[in-house]
Amino acid sequence: MSSPTHHPAWTALRSHQADMADVTIQSLFTQDPERAKRYQANAGGWTLDYSKNRANDATLSLLTQLVRESGMEAAIANMFNGEHINNTEDRPVLHVALRAAKAQQSLIVDGVNVLDEVRSTLAQMETFVTQLHNGEWRGYTDKKITDVVSIGIGGSYLGPKVVAEALTPYKRDDIKVHFVANIDGSDISEKLKLLNAETTVFIVSSKSFGTLETLYNANAARAWCIDQGVPESDIKKHFAAVSSNVEKAVKFGMAEENIFPMWDWVGGRYSLWSAIGLPIAVAVGMERFYELLDGAYAMDEHFKNTPFEHNLPVIMGALGVWYSNFHNAQTHALIPYDHFLRAMPAHIQQLDMESNGKANLVDGSGVETDTGPVIWGGAGTNGQHAYHQLLHQGTRLIPVDFIAPLTTHNPVADHHAQLFANCLSQAQALMVGKTLEQAETELRQAGASEEQVKAIAPHKVIKGNRPSNLLLTDKLTPFTVGSLIALYEHRTFVQGTIWGVNSFDQWGVELGKVLGTDIYNRLVADTDNQELDASTQAAIAAFKQANS
Ligand code: F6P
Repeated sequence: MSSPTHHPAWTALRSHQADMADVTIQSLFTQDPERAKRYQANAGGWTLDYSKNRANDATLSLLTQLVRESGMEAAIANMFNGEHINNTEDRPVLHVALRAAKAQQSLIVDGVNVLDEVRSTLAQMETFVTQLHNGEWRGYTDKKITDVVSIGIGGSYLGPKVVAEALTPYKRDDIKVHFVANIDGSDISEKLKLLNAETTVFIVSSKSFGTLETLYNANAARAWCIDQGVPESDIKKHFAAVSSNVEKAVKFGMAEENIFPMWDWVGGRYSLWSAIGLPIAVAVGMERFYELLDGAYAMDEHFKNTPFEHNLPVIMGALGVWYSNFHNAQTHALIPYDHFLRAMPAHIQQLDMESNGKANLVDGSGVETDTGPVIWGGAGTNGQHAYHQLLHQGTRLIPVDFIAPLTTHNPVADHHAQLFANCLSQAQALMVGKTLEQAETELRQAGASEEQVKAIAPHKVIKGNRPSNLLLTDKLTPFTVGSLIALYEHRTFVQGTIWGVNSFDQWGVELGKVLGTDIYNRLVADTDNQELDASTQAAIAAFKQANS
């Protein structure tokens, strides 16, 4: 993969961007009454309306050309075929295999049929989940399990947590799932206060089984169990683990029969579809978990087989590049108009920023373009009363994805119509804006004096012409949640491929971990800290004094 700046389409897009500088999205609608219909694509139960973008047919055709010139076709094939596309770790990238086990028989990677491994792990998960649900799995005092606590962090935490929350309407009411991630003792302490060790099972999720936060919390959970009266010999009734490092998990004290495997070919942030998703399956049942996988599989098939012009992840990825690299957009917002999706922006933030926050091309040379933007967002309508002001009148261009189910799981009076109306009106307001004349007329009609009109009207001007995508689905279900998350996974891959980076390693997080260990050692021992910067020295001294 080379720098995208060397592709002819990149140069063409540069001059096209200049040609489009004065073209408004609104004028594109006026010119083409069919625009809303034509700028639409469907997959996995979702409809993407991308008509409210600063793009015409020429833009889309150049973006598609860029996608082709970046080698997308081969990149997609290489991922699905299990080539070692994570070159710095020499690994295949096969989260797609995790959702293919039902529909496909074999996928041989490095001599192994990985789908057999996936199927056998799903069967192991099914046994565990069934035993928990039907009361066969019992605690040390022979009581039925009522609470499961997932301990993990990063990819071994956020995806399962966000999906379990998104599937709240499908949750079983006889078992509760809790999540602990932070090494901050308040996280686990506050959860444990709610629980009874006799009826609690902990699932320790860590691909490496070497992550500081997870091991600390797992130790705290075990100490709590012992303290609550669980005999050492019965600890295994209260602990399961998910890891690709079985040896380390066993060494830690996990019973081998309670360890669920995962594999090097699943990246942490792409792992909710593996046994890392066990907390989801516990919360909603295995049938629903399979539906989640089916939804993701539907998006995989769409991504693999659909021409780029109608391919949701490709269209969204290419438009993202258009704004990041040709309009200098530094961030991208995800605004779900659904309470159950309120935490989804955080998962996509982790997925995208850990994947595409890169400064090197695959061959190790430095990038020549901006890469991954800051991904952020939160639920509408809440955000309208907070950060939407900046979306409308701030100086930065922030493309938005609005995400909304057409129906609700909780009809309350007219709430859902109001919610949906707000979603559409935000997209409309971003595009249309308000001119000075409109602001002046509005003020005059409200009885303002000419002096007031002059003073206030400029503050009411909203430039408009701000782009957004609209993603709609009939209903939030395990299937549509699965396809939505897979859509964003592939969008991330599309962008990483265009930028020419490896979206599947994360070397940047290592330095902080190493320095963290060094500083921890200085906090708990008498050390000479002279060689550190003065700011860090002072904070270490303050900590020691406060905790002496
Ligand atoms: O520190 C980053 C990271 O390596 C993530 O990529 C990963 O999901 C997370 O830590 C947790 O890692 P593990 O599952 O090995 O505990």
